[in-house]
Formats: sequence, structure tokens, C-alpha cells
Amino acid sequence: MKRRRIQYVCQQCGRTVPKPLGHCPQCGAWNSMVAEAAEPADPRGARAAASAAAVRLADIRDEGIDRIPLPIEEFARVLGGGIVPGSIVLIGGDPGIGKSTLLLQVALALAEREAVLYVSGEESVRQIKGRAERLGARSESGLHLMAETELDGVLRQIETLQPGLAVIDSIQTMHDAELEPAAGSITQVRQCAARLQGLAKGSGVPVFLIGHVTKDGAIAGPRVLEHLVDTVLYLEGDAQHAFRLLRAVKNRFGPTTEVGVFEMGGAGMVEVPNPSEAFLAERVVQAPGSIVSITLEGSRPLLVEIQGLTSPTAFGNPRRTANGVDFNRLLLIAAVLTRRLGLSLSDQDVFVNVVGGLQIEEPAADLAIAAALASSMRDRTIPADMAVVGEVGLSGELRAVPQLGARLREASKLGFRRVVAPRSPRLEAAPPGLELLAVRSLREALDLLLAKP
Ligand code: TYD
Ligand code: MG
Repeated sequence: MKRRRIQYVCQQCGRTVPKPLGHCPQCGAWNSMVAEAAEPADPRGARAAASAAAVRLADIRDEGIDRIPLPIEEFARVLGGGIVPGSIVLIGGDPGIGKSTLLLQVALALAEREAVLYVSGEESVRQIKGRAERLGARSESGLHLMAETELDGVLRQIETLQPGLAVIDSIQTMHDAELEPAAGSITQVRQCAARLQGLAKGSGVPVFLIGHVTKDGAIAGPRVLEHLVDTVLYLEGDAQHAFRLLRAVKNRFGPTTEVGVFEMGGAGMVEVPNPSEAFLAERVVQAPGSIVSITLEGSRPLLVEIQGLTSPTAFGNPRRTANGVDFNRLLLIAAVLTRRLGLSLSDQDVFVNVVGGLQIEEPAADLAIAAALASSMRDRTIPADMAVVGEVGLSGELRAVPQLGARLREASKLGFRRVVAPRSPRLEAAPPGLELLAVRSLREALDLLLAKP
């Protein structure tokens, strides 16, 4: 047998080096290098290269991917339309966010038609069975459960069962006996994922890997696997709220702009086909500080309520609290309101909250944040039929946002009659029944939103 080359892997960041180092050159961690066998160089590589040839675009046969349909529509869409045979998909997320629940539901849905293998390194088969029953498992289900952490056993089981899908919960609990480091180390996580991928590619069995996002470096997080797998999905949400977003961050077989929305209920995750409606369900209209922003999640417009509250600082420095929006963005908007609009926030505590536990990353929510604060400060309500979108610049100007047309259509669908948005040369036409109020500056926008009735 040929001896395999040894390389050294930092257990903190995954950097590989040919020689053991006491100090990782990438992340600076001390004594974090562990030896692992490097993959041998492919001896066929050189010969294959000699016969390599390019193909003209038109001569490439268009083979559509045969996907395995998945009855959970919100999940299937994020994957790009179904499960690709032989693909390997990583589903990451914080502990307790609902990964096991969602994947057990996916497994159960497919097990209506064919054998599905669900491997758990965390729970006993009894526990999983209990959960599966709560999720509505039927006695004739093709679901096979396995409580196992040794990878060899798992691989053998996949080979014999040839399931329509294999779920590994979680990749961080799997252990390859050939390697020394403990389960959960970067070396183990990568090795186990690579062997599962080899099996998936060879057998055509799609494999879903669950990966916990970890704050400390003791367990390797899903990030170290992102380059290795075909598709990376993250399940996000606020543990205090019921909504969960399934987002594709990498997809070899589909777009990365899709977002699936679920709600965690007593019997598992429920699909939310109309998320805007759901996010606005609890809205108390006619309250100062409340406004609806039209945000974009992936390519999907989503209407969410943003709340602002200002309150005189009792003692010490004024506080700023951002829930669901970027803290630095809030500081910037508060500064623009103070300097450009004369709204004196320097002796006010300022709170901003996105209702429903959503995290909004895009600056297109700036105008909503600013309007919510101004509305609270002036104790003036914003008309219930108005929604807003727009990025705020440092001079108090409003900047255009991507996909305004899709946002306007969503607002119109939800019954909004007026949208305040930045004026731009490529302004899209508003759908019938919706009035687009295009403005240049934050001041103009606030004049419209906070006008005396
Ligand atoms: P879980 O799927 O175990 O999370 P993860 O695998 O991401 O760590 O779900 C965790 C939480 O979800 C747990 O606190 C219980 C709750 N839950 C529900 O609210 N409804 C349900 O039907 C189930 C099965 C779990
Ligand atoms: Mg779990």
C-alpha cells in the first residue's frame, strides 16, 4: 500500500500546512495543529490532462437535472426545485433553531414513497420515533432510524439500504475510526463529510448533513464544509420567535436567492406561503413609531413592521438598542436625523425593533427605521395604507433600492395604497391601485409620512 502524505490542520480555522507549526499562520491559534492524512495525488491526473479538450457551447447536450420532488414546497424551492440525486446538502444553524425537526419532516415526507435513512448521533431511536410520531409519522412510513456515530457503520447502512435520501444529524457527531482526533474536530468533520460525499456521488443517494453553528472553536462549524458540499442552506431565526428562514448561501444546482419561510409550531415546522401576511398579522395600526418596510429576502419581497421608540434618557449616556437591524446602521440613521433634520436624539434613548424576529441586513430598511423614530419622537402616526422603502445617505438623501417593482407589487398585493420610495431615473411603474410617492430626501419622505391629516 502506498503511504499517504501527512499534512497538519488547524483545528480553529481549517488552514492546512505541510509541516507542524506551534502557531497557526492564518488565525494565530496556538498548538491547534493536528496531523491528518492528505489525499494522495491522482495518478490519472497527468494522463487525463493530455487528452483534455474543450467543447463548443452549442455541442453540449442539455441534460436537465432529474430532481426528486419534495412535497414541502418552501424547502424544495430553496433547493432549486427538489432534491438532486447524488448531491450533498449542508443545513447549518444555531442549536435549537429547528434543524432536526425540519429534516425529520423532510425525511417523513419522502418516506411516504421510498426508504429514507435518518442517522442521529445525538438522540436514541426511541427519542426520534417519539418526535416522528408527534410530526405525524404513519405506521407504513419507509423511514429508517439509526443511532450511530461511527461513520463506517453509517456508510455500510446507506450502501445496503440504498435509500432515496440519507440525513446525518449531525456531521459533528460522526467519527471516522481511521483518524485520531475526536468527533467534531475540523479533521473529523471534513473527513466524514468527504467520505459521505464520495458515497453520495458513487451511489446516487442524496445526503443531507446537519451542522451546528458554534460560537467557540471546540467543535468545527459548518463553515469548514461549505467548499466541499454542493449546497449550503442556513436555517435562521430568533429563538424567541416562531418564524424561521431557510436561506441558500451556495447552490450548485439552483439559485442562492431563494428563501423559504416556516413557522415553528407544536407539531413541527409549518410552511408560510404568504410571509408578508404572517409578519403583519399582529400589527396594531395607528400607533406612533410603527411603520411597514418592504424588504427583500433573497429575491423575495417581504413586508415587515418596524417599530421605533424614543424616550428621554433618565441618567447617564443615551442608549441605543437595535433588534433585527444592524446596530451601526441605527447609529448612522440617528446621526442623520439629528444633524440633517434637527431631531434632537442626543438626550433620548432609542430603540428599534423588527416585529417577528426577522433580521434585516439590507440598507433599504433605512427609511423605515428613520420614519419609525421620527414618528415616535413627534408622537405622530403614519397612515395605515402607507409602506416605505429606501436607503438613507449621510446627507439625508434617499438612495435607490434594488427590485423596486417586485417590492411595489408585494405591497399592492397586501392592500397598501401608497408607497414612499426614493426617486430614481429608472423608476418602475407602480401597479394599478398603488400610488408611488417618489422623493429625493429623508426630509421630503418624513413630510409625507408624518403630515397632519
Ligand atoms: P430541534 O429541531 O431539536 O433543533 P436543532 O436540531 O436545530 O438543534 O428543535 C429545537 C426546538 O424546537 C426545541 O426547543 C423544541 C422545539 N420544537 C417545537 O417547538 N415544535 C416541535 O414540533 C418540535 C419537534 C420541536
Ligand atoms: Mg438537532
